[in-house]
Amino acid sequence: MREAICERMEDIGINAAVDNVLITSGSQQAIDLTGKLFINPGDIIICESPTYLAAINVFESYNATFVEVAMDNDGMIMEELEKKLQAYPDAKFIYTVPDFQNPTGRTLKFERRKQMTELARQYDVLIVEDNPYGAIRFAGEEIPPVKHFDIDNRVIYISSFSKIFAPGLRLGWICADETFIDKYVCFKQTADLHTDSFAQRITAKYLELYDMEEHINKIKDVYKKRCITMLSCMKQFFPNNINYSIPEGGLFIWVELPEMIDSEQLLVECLENNVAFVPGSPFFPNSTNNNTLRLNYSNMPEERIIEGMKRIGEVLQRKLKNENKKEVQKA
Ligand SMILES: Cc1ncc(COP(=O)(O)O)c(C=O)c1O
Repeated sequence: MREAICERMEDIGINAAVDNVLITSGSQQAIDLTGKLFINPGDIIICESPTYLAAINVFESYNATFVEVAMDNDGMIMEELEKKLQAYPDAKFIYTVPDFQNPTGRTLKFERRKQMTELARQYDVLIVEDNPYGAIRFAGEEIPPVKHFDIDNRVIYISSFSKIFAPGLRLGWICADETFIDKYVCFKQTADLHTDSFAQRITAKYLELYDMEEHINKIKDVYKKRCITMLSCMKQFFPNNINYSIPEGGLFIWVELPEMIDSEQLLVECLENNVAFVPGSPFFPNSTNNNTLRLNYSNMPEERIIEGMKRIGEVLQRKLKNENKKEVQKA
């Protein structure tokens, strides 16, 4: 399994040996073991704003403190990152989801990946690259992972078979410097001794007998169509003063509503119409951004996406009208 993972990583520009790899029970366990290994109570973790909710929950469970770095459509902004590194010189690591980020769908652009590793070196901080979506690019140019730019072994790369093969197999991995992996192994043993060998054999055999890329290409075709459908529904059914991300892969679209709209309240009304999304605020560890939400296009056929988006659009148009009326009355 580890040899097969090394081969796959080599294809995306990561040179690693089997001793650099630890198989985990999904990448979620890799995140948890990272928290267990590195975080002491009060330690500072620098992350994108917003970031992956279940990583916030893990790091919080080890009593970390978060420092959020602003993003734009090209991912974390490096000037902002440098300011935070200056302000928090003892930060433990930078946590990043560089490809088709959960929740925004945004991707860290090529030059910023290089810059991030240079800044990490300059300020002597580790990078935890959580990259489960990198293989699901359906538009734009391939970009190597942050780990590709790592010349002094400070990037801990985490990935998974969940998004490309089968989430239920619970198969992920960590790729890092051997001295880190030795320590991870001790913590892994205290967590669950080892990752399900049957799941590992199934996946390794699949990789040996079948063409994983062919399978991933099929998924990408499906997601691309669904993403395009959702984006065109946004134009058709949503008010036009709304910002949203245009992903080149992965599963998510991030939506920023006018400030007076609270997406949790919007969700209550949408649920009455049998349609759901994820409110954005919990993805911010410190700040609240009630006017944001995450959409996921991966799971529903096009006709249901169209119907769902129509329903959200109707609720949104109605809510916006009411809020505007209130504003006028106040004035
Ligand atoms: C950014 C990110 N990391 C990690 C995970 C965990 O995935 P798994 O444990 O299934 O590999 C997810 C799942 O949604 C995710 O979005």
